Amino acid sequence: MENVTERIVDALRCPVCGAPMRYDATCGAGQLLCLGTRTHNFDLAKSGYVHLAPRHSGGGDSREAVRARTAFLSEGYYRVAVDALCELIKTYAPEGLVVDAGCGEGYYTNRVAAMGQHAVCGFDLSRDAVDSAAKAARREGNGARYGVASVFELPLADGSADAVLNIFAPCSEAEYARVLKSGGVLILLGAGERHLLGLKRALYDEIYENAERADLPEGLDLVEQRTVRDVIEVTGAEQIGHLFSMTPYYWRTSPEDKRKLERLETLKTEIEFDCRVYRKA
Ligand SMILES: C[S@@+](CC[C@H](N)C(=O)[O-])C[C@H]1O[C@@H](n2cnc3c(N)ncnc32)[C@H](O)[C@@H]1O
Repeated sequence: MENVTERIVDALRCPVCGAPMRYDATCGAGQLLCLGTRTHNFDLAKSGYVHLAPRHSGGGDSREAVRARTAFLSEGYYRVAVDALCELIKTYAPEGLVVDAGCGEGYYTNRVAAMGQHAVCGFDLSRDAVDSAAKAARREGNGARYGVASVFELPLADGSADAVLNIFAPCSEAEYARVLKSGGVLILLGAGERHLLGLKRALYDEIYENAERADLPEGLDLVEQRTVRDVIEVTGAEQIGHLFSMTPYYWRTSPEDKRKLERLETLKTEIEFDCRVYRKA
């Protein structure tokens, strides 16, 4: 595990001045110290995550959103997605440093770390999300490390990552290309055309398939695309509410349509994930 921490610290760069960093375990929960001419210090939180975003940055998902997603994902409804992700990593980046950009509470990140073949770190703007991710990693003893940082400004050296994961989070192609090694891969996982069609059927009179996302990479080489699908039955109004709150429809649906979900005890829906692997030349 020490080796894993060393590999991650080697790749980290100070978010203030860009200098390499070292880990100091002697103080509190531990500290990251930058090796620049003016030393910048970053204390680890009790759970083990570290804040590496500029002070003024905020945002990312709220505590309530993190709790709802954790409650839903931990039931295994998206098992096919995490299984596909692990398979793609085994194929395209069997070892090395894996960075999960926009990792949320680490559902996918911790599964990758549990494979035991990689040094794994996750970054997200939400402090509540990375705190929850770090706690889960510690409970599981999988060695994953977490930080607060924007996907548009990752605190990592150029060419340091073997794989970047981007799962239902904003895609920042230029930044991912910067941190990837030559030959490294970006694995993108997002909603397929028929993802959550059953949820839409329950909410709306007129339903439509999802359009292709607008932020797909343009400069990296697409080496594999696959669609993974399943049908799930979500049980209980609370769990259906958790799923609904994870979706963009939560913010766009009228109060009358939202009330339709309150009457449901089970929801059967297609889930469909679009997985793409891009390689940096
Ligand atoms: C829909 S969630 C997905 C989380 C996780 N990848 C998953 O699929 O379980 C999107 C995540 O992106 C994070 N996020 C949004 N904008 C971000 C940014 N600019 N930098 C880092 N994280 C961001 C949010 O805080 C949230 O945790």
